[in-house]
Amino acid sequence: MKVLVTGAAGFIGSHLVDRLLGEGEEVIGVDDLSSGALTNMAEARSAAGKFSFQRADVTSTVIQDLVKRTKPEIIFHLAAQVDVRASVANPVQDAMVNVIGTVNVLASASEAGVRKVIVASSGGTIYGDPEPSRLPITEDQFFMPESMPVSPYGVSKRVITDYLRYFQVDKGLDYTALALANVYGPRQEPASEVGLEGQVVAIFARRMLGAKPCTIYGDGTQTRDFAHVHDVVSAFVAARDKGSAELINIGSGSEISINDLYAKLAAHTDARFEPNYAPWRPGELYRISIDPSKAADVLGWQPSLSIDEGLGQTVDWFRTRM
Ligand SMILES: NC(=O)c1ccc[n+]([C@@H]2O[C@H](COP(=O)([O-])OP(=O)(O)OC[C@H]3O[C@@H](n4cnc5c(N)ncnc54)[C@H](O)[C@@H]3O)[C@@H](O)[C@H]2O)c1
Repeated sequence: MKVLVTGAAGFIGSHLVDRLLGEGEEVIGVDDLSSGALTNMAEARSAAGKFSFQRADVTSTVIQDLVKRTKPEIIFHLAAQVDVRASVANPVQDAMVNVIGTVNVLASASEAGVRKVIVASSGGTIYGDPEPSRLPITEDQFFMPESMPVSPYGVSKRVITDYLRYFQVDKGLDYTALALANVYGPRQEPASEVGLEGQVVAIFARRMLGAKPCTIYGDGTQTRDFAHVHDVVSAFVAARDKGSAELINIGSGSEISINDLYAKLAAHTDARFEPNYAPWRPGELYRISIDPSKAADVLGWQPSLSIDEGLGQTVDWFRTRM
């Protein structure tokens, strides 16, 4: 099968490309390299004949031409502006990439007769900042008035779900939207010393291994739901033939506080220093966990790694790199 992956040079996209190539698919990777790196595709680029790469912006007409010319059966759309705080500071730029870029991919796909688009949505933001009684949050709560995103990034990731439905109903373009928990694992590169909120595992692991202090924003009691990148990639692969016209959570259903995450990583890295605490950052929610029951029913998916196994593997990967 011929497939196209946007965001192919990114953290999750590059792992997805490797898995798809491993399964014998022909893969066209697209990325503008704004945050992704060619080095993430080193393995893929050695798969002679099966992988090609196009440096392109998903908002550009290059996408229409590329999709029309290559006619992939499926598009995995992962390219995005992924910084929640940047979306607060510059909602126009966020919407440009995450909304207009997605609509461009969907319109290109429907014009070229693509069978299905599988999109990376965000379970950590599309449901807003839920009351603890609503956790772990299920997909049917998407339509409740309380599910109001607290960042422009969350709004963008919600809005594209409406576009997916429109293109499915009106143009016959199938889709699955995977609402991902906080994804962690090898190849996750913090955008800066401070990094993005979603990159907390990579930020802490690298700093602890380098014997540098870590900063927790807020009091550390805020919780997140974590998914290992290899499990997340399995969900994308399963969605090739399942999950038609569905929004599906991909997470563990469990909450881990940032203080507990810190302690687990400190144990894996033998870090013996206490974290610094700094003021809360705008646009971030307090508690989240997303219910993966539908993923089990519809995709036959469940996480294969416990958080301790996943963190251990991730720390080992960073250790060998440093
Ligand atoms: N990592 C997480 O915890 C997480 C959680 C929920 C959802 N997601 C979603 O998963 C997807 C992948 O995220 P990631 O963590 O791998 O991030 P990433 O930044 O590593 O990957 C995103 C990729 O998109 C590329 N890109 C950005 N703007 C582009 C544009 N205009 N045109 C073409 N390419 C562009 C970047 O260069 C990068 O390679 C994103 O859609 C993100 O919103 C990620």
